[in-house]
Amino acid sequence: MKFFIDTADIEAIRQAHEMGLVDGVTTNPTLIKKSGRDHEETIREIASFIDGPISVETLSEDADGMIREAETYMKWSKNNNIVIKIVMSPEGMKVCKMLTQQGIKTNVTVTFSPLQALIAAKAGATFVSPFVGRLDDIGHYGMDLIQQIREIYDNYGFTTEILVASVRNPIHILDAARIGADVVTVPPATLMQQFKHPLTENGIAQFLEDAKQWKS
Ligand code: G3P
Repeated sequence: MKFFIDTADIEAIRQAHEMGLVDGVTTNPTLIKKSGRDHEETIREIASFIDGPISVETLSEDADGMIREAETYMKWSKNNNIVIKIVMSPEGMKVCKMLTQQGIKTNVTVTFSPLQALIAAKAGATFVSPFVGRLDDIGHYGMDLIQQIREIYDNYGFTTEILVASVRNPIHILDAARIGADVVTVPPATLMQQFKHPLTENGIAQFLEDAKQWKS
């Protein structure tokens, strides 16, 4: 399972990258706003050290506008690793189909149902992003959606990768791996939470304590 990092915070991306935990990056308008930086400048900086897929979200509501934005975004990286993030809508699916025909990678976002994921796969999406945390927030089991999409994609051999998004805790990551999701995109803090285990911490402390005898 690939780990993408769900942030536009350059320092956080760098740190996780140094630990080998960044197979790709996902951004959205909210994350760019949170970074307080310019959209283009931020994506260009990420692309200067990340070779894996970098999702950049289109902002137009009509297909022509989305295509124009996609053409612009593609120029922001020299590594040909920009993935065009498109919202789940009829216009979005037109664009997904067109970009796929041109060999451009796409990520269909804000998806909340297995049928939306089926539509995205039929339009040729490279990735589909189901938002599990936001489903949990309204009392639905977000991970049930991942299980259903996995089943549908396997039934028909769709190659669209399931990119689990809106991840809020390590259990989401664990469940995604058990179900066989292709990718999880994880906020930096949740990525780091995976290291945490009291037995690991106690074990390290004990080893350091015992080593004091001959270290000094
Ligand atoms: O990239 C989209 C996504 O992961 C959204 O997460 O926490 O805003 O629901 P969240």
